[in-house]
Amino acid sequence: MPTEIPSVADGMQRMDAALVRCDDVARTYGSGPAAVVAVHGLDCHVPPGARIAVVGPSGSGKSTLLHLMAGLDRPTAGKVSHPGIDGADADTLTRHIGVVFQGPSLLPPLTVAENVALPLRIDGVPETEADDRAQVALARLELTELARRLPDELSAGQAQRVAVARVLARRPRLVLADEPTGQLDRATGRQVLAILLGTAQELGAAVLVTTHDPRIARALDVRWYMADGRLIRPEAGDGGDDRTDHPTDQRSSGGEKT
Ligand SMILES: Nc1ncnc2c1ncn2[C@@H]1O[C@H](COP(=O)(O)OP(=O)(O)OP(=O)(O)O)[C@@H](O)[C@H]1O
Ligand SMILES: [Mg+2]
Repeated sequence: MPTEIPSVADGMQRMDAALVRCDDVARTYGSGPAAVVAVHGLDCHVPPGARIAVVGPSGSGKSTLLHLMAGLDRPTAGKVSHPGIDGADADTLTRHIGVVFQGPSLLPPLTVAENVALPLRIDGVPETEADDRAQVALARLELTELARRLPDELSAGQAQRVAVARVLARRPRLVLADEPTGQLDRATGRQVLAILLGTAQELGAAVLVTTHDPRIARALDVRWYMADGRLIRPEAGDGGDDRTDHPTDQRSSGGEKT
């Protein structure tokens, strides 16, 4: 029925628009002599379907960038926008941007299965469907046997995998994963990353992963480097080790240099 078919022009605009965009973004913690400039001068965007690794030393601002992109924190200067996400209010952002946090994030009184299903219930997904989707996500991460456990009864690595399952079950358009393999041994880390990337591809979701692990970074299409709160993305062929497969492909390379 023609009235139910969205306008091609509108659809194209939304499909092509960046899921998140940072324009000259800065975040300073505190004020006066004790102020810490966590990030500054950030210009970047994440196109739909992009697969980006953010690497850089501890304290370089990776988590700060990720929280700003998710709308969980506000910049002290510049602008973070979400042109590809309609009506980007806080609820909509939470719905479409899945965050795997660097630290523990599961709710202690809820079982693993309940933790994964809860965001779906909050979105209004009927209970049975939410439970089914939670089970599918847990099975994918090979966590079915842990579904009835409480977070306190998990290892740090298992909890991290549950956090990944929780994000994927919600079918986000953008996954922001903050060192999602940091608590995992190398083999499990690679496996979890493969599941994350595979599921994201099925969903058509973009993925941005912060990591210290060069092997993990190489598994993504594009690498962004952070140092002292700045985002540095080597231009193709400038001698950097950012050997992107598609250095000029806007679908997969969202960093911008000004
Ligand atoms: N709540 C806060 N209050 C004050 N300073 C903060 C706060 N959060 C982060 N910082 C500082 O901001 C800078 C960037 O921190 P951030 O957590 O973004 O780094 P990171 O690259 O994620 O590090 P890591 O690899 O260790 O996770 C650091 O100097 C840190 O000490
Ligand atoms: Mg961090």
